[in-house]
Amino acid sequence: MSIGSYPATRLRRTRQAGFIRDMVRETRLAPAQLIQPLFVAEGPLCGPVGAMPGVVRHDLDALVRECAALYALGIRSVALFPVTPAERKTPGGDEALNPDSLMCRSIRAIKQVVPQIGIVADVALDPYTSHGQDGVLDARGDVDNDATCEILRRQALLYARCGVDIVAPSDMMDGRVGHIRQVLERDGHKNTLILSYAAKYASAYYGPFRDAVGSAGNLGKGGKETYQMDPANADEALREVALDLAEGADIVMVKPGMPYLDIIRRVKDRFGVPVAAYQVSGEYSMLKAAAANGWLDEKKAVLEALTCFRRAGADMILTYHARDAAQWL
Ligand code: PBG
Repeated sequence: MSIGSYPATRLRRTRQAGFIRDMVRETRLAPAQLIQPLFVAEGPLCGPVGAMPGVVRHDLDALVRECAALYALGIRSVALFPVTPAERKTPGGDEALNPDSLMCRSIRAIKQVVPQIGIVADVALDPYTSHGQDGVLDARGDVDNDATCEILRRQALLYARCGVDIVAPSDMMDGRVGHIRQVLERDGHKNTLILSYAAKYASAYYGPFRDAVGSAGNLGKGGKETYQMDPANADEALREVALDLAEGADIVMVKPGMPYLDIIRRVKDRFGVPVAAYQVSGEYSMLKAAAANGWLDEKKAVLEALTCFRRAGADMILTYHARDAAQWL
């Protein structure tokens, strides 16, 4: 790289007009890099999500229609999140293994009508547990790592058999990626991708999501600090990623997004593997609230945030803004 000096080098020359800014731009953002998270519910649980303006809990028909519309807009993949009625939640999260759960029916319905769209299914128990934790509890009330892994591997296999393209363990149990990879291989699902929530932090920014899926009430004052990462840690994120890759993850995720761009960069630089970023519910809510008040230009602020994820090293971004962004792009 040549290092110039003023006035031979004037960096404003390559910023002077659109044609040249467009040519020297280092980072590109395209709809195909965006994954749209979608909530699915039934009956009275359908409807708008209060803390996430513009986001709705779809019924099954609307979900399928939305997938077709997103695909037409250039979005290539969706991540599904089911809302479970309170009476179906148990301490053991049994609904996670029900072959006729809303999640399983959603995967099958989308694959029937829009088979080209990639489907990501979260593997974790929190939509189904009466205590709102991502796994089953031991005698002390902590999430039991190994007992939870046994259930997660069966949950992942169930979704693979329903035809899901990508399973995404979002639970942060140690060793779960290895368990899931092993059972998928054994059952002949050698092409099912694992997108591991590898560096997932115990974050306040998940608040609106927990309201959307109705797990906030179940969780109560309980936290997830015994399995999700401490926001103060970065070296530990690299260890998490290394383990998940060794166990068979195809894509690793960093979550939340904007406050964790340094983690994305370090993961990309260290491992050179496909990296996903999750711009989570609280980030969406902040941008929407500021835009609604006229404090931010929504389109500019959102596209800037998404571009910065790409610049930091994310190959793909899970974002509730995906539909709007695809339209703007
Ligand atoms: C559950 C899960 C969470 C999110 C995705 N999967 C919440 C949590 O861990 O409590 C958060 C998504 C968001 O905030 O947008 N395992």
